[in-house]
Amino acid sequence: MEYKDMIEQLTSLINNNQLISATISQPRAKSDEIKRIRLKPVELQGVYHIQFEYQYERILKHDNIELSGIPAKIDFLLQQFRQVQAEFKEEKIHIQLSKKFKILWKSERVVTKTVVNLSHNRKKNYLLDEDTAYPFLIRLGVQTPDGKVKKQKHDKFRQINRFVEFIDDALDYLPKDRPVRILDFGSGKSYLTFALYHYLHIEKGLDIKVTGLDLKKEVIEECQQIANDLNYDNLEFLVGDINDYNEETSVDMVVTLHACDVATDMALARAVKWGAKVILSVPCCQHELNTQLNSPSLDVMLQHGLVKERFAALATDSIRAELLKLVGYEAQLLEFIDMEHTPKNILIRAYFTGKRPTTGEQEKYKAFVEFLGAKPFLEKELQNYL
Ligand SMILES: C[S@@+](CC[C@H](N)C(=O)[O-])C[C@H]1O[C@@H](n2cnc3c(N)ncnc32)[C@H](O)[C@@H]1O
Repeated sequence: MEYKDMIEQLTSLINNNQLISATISQPRAKSDEIKRIRLKPVELQGVYHIQFEYQYERILKHDNIELSGIPAKIDFLLQQFRQVQAEFKEEKIHIQLSKKFKILWKSERVVTKTVVNLSHNRKKNYLLDEDTAYPFLIRLGVQTPDGKVKKQKHDKFRQINRFVEFIDDALDYLPKDRPVRILDFGSGKSYLTFALYHYLHIEKGLDIKVTGLDLKKEVIEECQQIANDLNYDNLEFLVGDINDYNEETSVDMVVTLHACDVATDMALARAVKWGAKVILSVPCCQHELNTQLNSPSLDVMLQHGLVKERFAALATDSIRAELLKLVGYEAQLLEFIDMEHTPKNILIRAYFTGKRPTTGEQEKYKAFVEFLGAKPFLEKELQNYL
């Protein structure tokens, strides 16, 4: 079989509403970031699409392609991957491509037909269940009194669930022989603060003490009232500025969700000073670097305000991760939530390891900030630790 005939045959099976699911795997280049791609049909606003789910080392990304775009997409992917396993309504196929694009096509008839689920929004396995009434979510207005997530609060519900997943992944790094001390900086209406208290204390039975801190007096007072009403004894809310908060000597986990601009850096700096084992931080509106950037080699990009703003935000988060590495953390920037739900989609995850940086790592950081002309707030905050 010729390569172009294979693409034609495969895409006509997909486009004739036959696909149940498929996996494209075996990247030709070992360095390829995408490990495999899963395909399934989905119906979006009444239109049949194929959803491509790209599996990277640590994250998944999706895009939904209309049928007219399928041949080019499949062709593009099969230039880079060597195996396809696909289940159609009446047959299963296995395609293997050699290094030189020689094709082995195996097909097997399917006796029982499978019903295809076209729902794009099949129920997700959230740690906080969509159909369970949670008193704190009802009080915070995320759920109706009978426990349904309100339509306009779905994004918030997804965000806190995703954040709780990251907290769940970090449990091994937290102490088990004493109460775990947790700070949520810039907690605002404190959806996350309540959610993590509920998940860790009420569902997992961990001994924890949680504080949510924010500038907004009235909002914080209301949160404290809710915590009192629900008998959440080890959850407190304080009014205050992160920069003035020096009550603690030791904290195990610091979280922030969309703490504005350098408020994120203030929180990171405090976490480092307290030797927090776990830092989970989703930054927001990073303006600081935007006014500092001064790198003629980047003018082609930075002349465009929009690009400059995005570049500044990405550079800020990269600098934050690098600084955390230099002070003994294993730090990563991970996808928090897909772009379709919020553009603020990077999560900084840092676990304390105590590893000292090499001279090379320190120099790499210095060269980067010098190149940008940046004087990061967090670097100044951490100068005694660098
Ligand atoms: C976008 S809101 C996010 C609130 C909450 N974490 C959430 O995701 O729903 C940012 C919050 O950070 C708080 N904030 C900003 N700077 C702060 C500071 N220096 N100290 C304490 N809170 C601060 C604001 O008052 C605001 O409530």
